[in-house]
Amino acid sequence: MSEIVRVGLIGTGRIGQVHALSVANTSGAELTVVCDTFVDGANAVAALYGGRVVTDPADVFASGEVDLVIVASPTSTHVDLINQAIDAGIHVLCEKPIDLDIDRVDSLRAKAAAADIHIALGFNRRFDPNFAGINARVAAGELGTLEQLIIISRDPAPAPQSYIAVSGGIFRDMTIHDFDMARFFVPDIVEVTATGSNVFSDYIKEEGDFDSVLVQMKGRGGELISIVNSRHSSFGYDQRLEAFGSDGMLYAHNVAPNTVAKYSAAGVEDRTPYMEFFLERYATAYQQELAVFIDGVRTGTMTNPTFEDGRAALVLANAALESATTGRSVSVDGKL
Ligand SMILES: NC(=O)c1ccc[n+]([C@@H]2O[C@H](COP(=O)([O-])OP(=O)(O)OC[C@H]3O[C@@H](n4cnc5c(N)ncnc54)[C@H](O)[C@@H]3O)[C@@H](O)[C@H]2O)c1
Repeated sequence: MSEIVRVGLIGTGRIGQVHALSVANTSGAELTVVCDTFVDGANAVAALYGGRVVTDPADVFASGEVDLVIVASPTSTHVDLINQAIDAGIHVLCEKPIDLDIDRVDSLRAKAAAADIHIALGFNRRFDPNFAGINARVAAGELGTLEQLIIISRDPAPAPQSYIAVSGGIFRDMTIHDFDMARFFVPDIVEVTATGSNVFSDYIKEEGDFDSVLVQMKGRGGELISIVNSRHSSFGYDQRLEAFGSDGMLYAHNVAPNTVAKYSAAGVEDRTPYMEFFLERYATAYQQELAVFIDGVRTGTMTNPTFEDGRAALVLANAALESATTGRSVSVDGKL
């Protein structure tokens, strides 16, 4: 590999633009090919961050100009593009989820396992400094034995109905990040119990989806995990995590854009609302996710979440949907 890691980007929408910025901010990396079927989008990103523009992903893999490719196109394209990356021998960082259909994921599973490239999944929250910091301290034994994990994740406002209609449902679309966060701490989960409700959105109900869900899971060691999700939150993007163990607790509060509070005779004014949404809240995490992947490609070590992590999160999402639909706990023992 050349000194500079040459990066191809497929998909220049919301998250593709974040990745393009991350490449630009990573020393020793260069955006060389930018692909979008919507050529204006690719042109706009290339104008900002460089790279030759193409409109067919096959041209990225055939270019001979990339060492790794970032897949940030719609979910339905991921399986095919990972497959093409394997065939071309090009490392790939693919956005989550791998697919909404576990059968399609499984159709690539053996090939992905045998592949001679790094396949990373875009579970960026593992790279948030707060959550990563807690994870490292739990792993170092600071809490003694981990007994309970509580993940609270509420979006500021729901996506439009057109998005909800094709999202795959809240468990596969939104909770998928929390399933991966749960497995970051407790990889071996054996049981899933979930319940869903429609407490505020008629159009989400119309689409046969929930706007609010609770998930409880159990790890093989008896660890209990609780996930709280809502598609809305009046005070902004609510992202918290609590790890509770025999020797104490570690808790990550929400991240505020600033820490200023006003004190006067009228009272103490609290801080400004939380970060707008994921692009702002996880900006550092996206950057770090790519830096770690590029480092892994350089050194031949791989610490990003993998294809198997992507698959496991989808298995948990499917189990949660089954549980919420049937009212019964679902065993995932041996299925991750
Ligand atoms: N990790 C995260 O926090 C996060 C956040 C948002 C989205 N995502 C994931 O990223 C993916 C993209 O989401 P988005 O919100 O950026 O979507 P988007 O619609 O904003 O962007 C997708 C882009 O891909 C282009 N495109 C469509 N088909 C293509 C193809 N075959 N080849 C090349 N380009 C193609 C579109 O023209 C568009 O510019 C989804 O899988 C989504 O789940 C992840």
